[in-house]
Amino acid sequence: MQDKTARTDHPIHPMLASRWSPRAFSARLLDTDTINSIFEAARWSPSANNLQPWAFVFAERGTSDFEVLCGCLKESNLLWARNAALLGLALERPAKPDGSPNPHARYDLGQAAAHMTFQACALGLHIHQMAGFDPAQASALLGIPPDLLPVTAFAIGYLGEASSLPASVQEKELAIRSRYPTSAFVQVGRWPKHVD
Ligand SMILES: Cc1cc2nc3c(=O)[nH]c(=O)nc-3n(C[C@H](O)[C@H](O)[C@H](O)COP(=O)(O)O)c2cc1C
Repeated sequence: MQDKTARTDHPIHPMLASRWSPRAFSARLLDTDTINSIFEAARWSPSANNLQPWAFVFAERGTSDFEVLCGCLKESNLLWARNAALLGLALERPAKPDGSPNPHARYDLGQAAAHMTFQACALGLHIHQMAGFDPAQASALLGIPPDLLPVTAFAIGYLGEASSLPASVQEKELAIRSRYPTSAFVQVGRWPKHVD
């Protein structure tokens, strides 16, 4: 099994370091308690004014709704995501209850997705999020209410073997993970740097 633990410049929690987005998933399905815990983690995510402007729709492999979700994915994602135990969509509620725009809705959805992701990691699972899907098609086929906007798709499952993937996908699966250094995105105090 591939270990793609981050080579960090500074120590971070081992669970954060070991999270990554695989394409190879094992055939093992998730039990109901596991699924419930993943969404419970999203439930307890913070949000502006506690508006909780998120929703999730999911289907397990082997169901007809899973096939519908597969049909909404871009071909490059479908190649591997159809082997996941569960496919889902993360949905944003862009309007506040009074109808005005909620400028923090997408930020809050992202945090809820992160909470889910780390709960899944804590349970020995991996999540692979995807922008490569058709939101309009998903809304139509899944009857998504008009106040909810599909933002990302996600695949959840236990890690599988890279050798199970088509050759083109294996290359990505085995590629080294990289990141900008923190100095590229963390600024102390102000721009330009100020020395007292
Ligand atoms: C919002 C979002 C959209 C993404 N869309 C895709 C996608 O459509 N297909 C894909 O293979 N990976 C997708 N990814 C996964 C990223 O490519 C991946 O997180 C990134 O390369 C870093 O790799 P890591 O998660 O393994 O650290 C997406 C991730 C996020 C957060």
